[in-house]
Amino acid sequence: MTFFPEIRSTTPGAFALGGGAEPAPGVRLRRVRGRGGFAEVWEADSPAGPVALKFMPCSNTGTTAREVRSIQSFAALDHPHLVKTHGVWTVPGYVVVGMELAEGTLLDLMLLYHNDLGQPIPPAQLGLYLSQVAGALDFLNARRHERAGRTVGFQHGDVKPNNVLLFGDTAKLTDYGLATPTHGPATPCPRHGTRDYAAPEVLNGYQADTSDQYGLAVMYHVLRTGAFPFPPAPVGELPKGFVRPPPDLSLVPEAERPVLARALAAAPADRFPKSGEFARRVLEAQGLMLTRSADGAARVVSAKNPTP
Ligand SMILES: Nc1ncnc2c1ncn2[C@@H]1O[C@H](COP(=O)(O)OP(=O)(O)OP(=O)(O)O)[C@@H](O)[C@H]1O
Ligand SMILES: [Mg+2]
Repeated sequence: MTFFPEIRSTTPGAFALGGGAEPAPGVRLRRVRGRGGFAEVWEADSPAGPVALKFMPCSNTGTTAREVRSIQSFAALDHPHLVKTHGVWTVPGYVVVGMELAEGTLLDLMLLYHNDLGQPIPPAQLGLYLSQVAGALDFLNARRHERAGRTVGFQHGDVKPNNVLLFGDTAKLTDYGLATPTHGPATPCPRHGTRDYAAPEVLNGYQADTSDQYGLAVMYHVLRTGAFPFPPAPVGELPKGFVRPPPDLSLVPEAERPVLARALAAAPADRFPKSGEFARRVLEAQGLMLTRSADGAARVVSAKNPTP
């Protein structure tokens, strides 16, 4: 059995989370699907079918209103590999985000393969998910989004296996809580997501156009090998100008090493121009390619024998 620490609001009179509770008319909680560092996610029944509800404890009304507006603005982004948000509202003590209900996360899948099957995720399946998340990032990162009268890109800021949700053969990126609008090659950004996946420039306080690609490459390495490509960053405040040691890529097959090394380059400009190119080169290094079957579904096949 998995142990989840409780993430509950401390606001007096906060909404009581529990099976059967109704956080919106006709929406009834069924069971907890997971807890992260800041929120609790429940599976619920709604008039439109099963949904996932994320409960984020909040107390300060000013911050809450900002948080709701920020989530709403990201909810409007539409891409086949971004998790769809159905609605954002508040109940006492929580901001609630309603979204599509996934089967699990990429982290769950990795653990299932490593712990239960004793093998890594098959390369073609992992390559498919990598390509899909790369597509979502290229969409988000491109300076094509209108925000407060400006055309901006977004760096997601928290690319990691537990923020990629799975729906059968489809992977979708979720959690825009740390997304930063970018309007130039270096956007100041005081907050960062999970340290082990963050690019060095992010740990030094700014986002570049290729910062998410770095996180994607770390995630790929973790999923491919079960290990990080460098030792953990120190805890506590990082020294100014912190640099990671060069990645140790000895656990990945030789053909993939130069591809990963480029996506993990310390200087943002030395990485691939787009995450999609990184994903394509990862597949190519394994003799794989992305294709579409007659029904339009994307799949990864052998480049030598592409008929699925
Ligand atoms: N839409 C969803 N459908 C099904 N399960 C979900 C959904 N969203 C999140 N979960 C589950 O809930 C867990 C908690 O999600 P949450 O985003 O709060 O934290 P996290 O991403 O795991 O970690 P952290 O808080 O460190 O970012 C996830 O790991 C996942 O197992
Ligand atoms: Mg998450």
